Amino acid sequence: MNPTTNIAVRAARQAGSVIMRSFSRLDTLTVAEKQTNDYVSEVDRNAEQAIIDTIRRAYPSHAILAEESGSRGKDDFQWIIDPLDGTTNYLHGFPQFAVSIALSHRGRLESAVVYDPVRDEMFTADRGAGALLNDRRLRVTEQRGLPGALLGTGIPFRDQRYMDQYLGMLKTLTQTTAGIRRPGSAALDFAYVAAGRLDGFWELGLSVWDFAAGALLVQEAGGMVSDIGGGSRHLDTGNVIAAGPRLHRDMVQAIRPHLKGDLKA
Ligand code: IPD
Ligand code: CA
Ligand code: CA
Repeated sequence: MNPTTNIAVRAARQAGSVIMRSFSRLDTLTVAEKQTNDYVSEVDRNAEQAIIDTIRRAYPSHAILAEESGSRGKDDFQWIIDPLDGTTNYLHGFPQFAVSIALSHRGRLESAVVYDPVRDEMFTADRGAGALLNDRRLRVTEQRGLPGALLGTGIPFRDQRYMDQYLGMLKTLTQTTAGIRRPGSAALDFAYVAAGRLDGFWELGLSVWDFAAGALLVQEAGGMVSDIGGGSRHLDTGNVIAAGPRLHRDMVQAIRPHLKGDLKA
């Protein structure tokens, strides 16, 4: 494992213990609404600080982009951090959330960690060296085509601009696959595609910290990640499709007729 990935693992474990310490006393947390349906508590902030402290001790010159505290520093290396992905789940005691940490170098993803502190599952990837769940190598599924596929998704709940287009996609994919799941943590959804627990995933309007680590996990597990039209602008648009290589093209084709209005490929 790359030294940078090792540091990310250490940082994710520290964030995980901040998160789990409060999980049994959620009623004591102070929760603020950043915007409609966008909540934050001291757990998000404390977990983020624990991650940043660990990274800065090891790599003081690297830049950081973190969901709660924004961007700091300028460097070819940038850490992209979501300290608690799935905050709404967390605040309801719904045990599906994760820590997500990625490192990019000149815009190319190098290291990825997604950590589920409830199940103690550590998903890691190094560019060119594959993806692991704890010590086990990950591989996306061989699923061919939509019939029989299990897909993950995220239903728009903040920005609802593309709700009609999204519901069209959901209808098409519900009618043509084995089923759709909406677990509520995009970082874990990508990790589950990498692990072959889901055959594919799509969502509109993600932020880069939701899925930078997840995207590298899927790619290093042999999968494909693209923007909603099948191109490579997903890290900029946040509209994303991830799947095993035999399924990805079919998802792109099923979604394409719904790219209407200003939702373009
Ligand atoms: C959210 C989760 C969710 C996705 C949202 C994200 P947060 O992240 O990943 O699954 O549907 O778009 O914003 O706010 O819980 O860190
Ligand atoms: Ca997130
Ligand atoms: Ca978050």
